Amino acid sequence: MAKGKGQKVKKKVLITGANGMLGRALVEKLGERYAVKGITIDDADITDLDAIAKVITKIKPALVIHAAAYTKVDECESNISLAYRVNAIGTRNVAIACQGIDASMVYISTDYIFDGTKDSPYVEFDPANPLSIYGNSKLAGEVFVQQVLSRFYIIRTAWLYGEGGANFVDTIINKAKTEKQLKVVDDQRGSPTYTKDLADKIGEVISREGYGIYHITNSGSCSWFEFAKKIVEISLKKNRSYMTYKTSIVPIKSSELKRPAKRPANSVLRNFMLELEGISLMRHWEEALKSYLSNGDS
Ligand SMILES: NC(=O)c1ccc[n+]([C@@H]2O[C@H](COP(=O)([O-])OP(=O)(O)OC[C@H]3O[C@@H](n4cnc5c(N)ncnc54)[C@H](OP(=O)(O)O)[C@@H]3O)[C@@H](O)[C@H]2O)c1
Repeated sequence: MAKGKGQKVKKKVLITGANGMLGRALVEKLGERYAVKGITIDDADITDLDAIAKVITKIKPALVIHAAAYTKVDECESNISLAYRVNAIGTRNVAIACQGIDASMVYISTDYIFDGTKDSPYVEFDPANPLSIYGNSKLAGEVFVQQVLSRFYIIRTAWLYGEGGANFVDTIINKAKTEKQLKVVDDQRGSPTYTKDLADKIGEVISREGYGIYHITNSGSCSWFEFAKKIVEISLKKNRSYMTYKTSIVPIKSSELKRPAKRPANSVLRNFMLELEGISLMRHWEEALKSYLSNGDS
């Protein structure tokens, strides 16, 4: 919006899934640089092409960041139609709406499009091979975006946590207060990623016309077990009251959990496109975690 003589008009950016964990961070962080409008399922259900096209056409953003998704990975295994309707068709609908007003699009995708069998971090040019309905439906969304649009960013991220969402960090802290023993899987590796850091980096990526697929996560990697141990360790240092909790964290194998959806053993995403494009990598996941645990100050 124009603010006066000499001041630049901010680029209009629409964000879907604005009530979600990442959506909230995007609305907050990008609001500093862009004219942001966040929409939720109450504004338009993305599975309804006419409804989402109507809202996007009315707001007429220059760019849409599509963060809405059906993210309950295990539920997707039994709600297969819903998973594809939201993650694949819903994404296609957002892309068609963008095409209608000549807007570019950011689609948020996932590490779960990979099968995790690679013995080094995945780069953007590695072939996808999802193990789950969630992963496959998100990959179908990627394909639709590429079929419908020429100006898009597909941003694959992983292991998100942040304010306003049910996430692993909060779960571990809450359980550490009440349970004597926490069993956490030690045979899946990834890069825990703070939504605020990701939102900032997305803001940077969309300021350039370098379209394509990007892996964006905090740096470094760990297993869920190592992540849980670090969450408790940092919490103990920050808040003495945790000293009274005697939780022991025990490593287990994924097979012991018997969850409906298979997860990749190696979820580590090398942020290779950022490297190639000369864009700085995000800080180490432990630093980001410390920020989140000190009331989310980044
Ligand atoms: N969380 C992770 O670890 C992770 C990792 C990698 C990639 N991602 C991707 O990152 C993005 C954001 O994830 P998140 O964790 O922030 O998800 P989230 O908290 O579950 O937010 C998703 C939002 O989408 C909305 N939504 C669901 N179905 C919809 C529909 N039919 N129409 C409109 N809105 C709908 C949800 O609304 P309701 O709450 O009302 O259902 C929710 O507000 C997703 O694309 C996800 O696949 C997440």
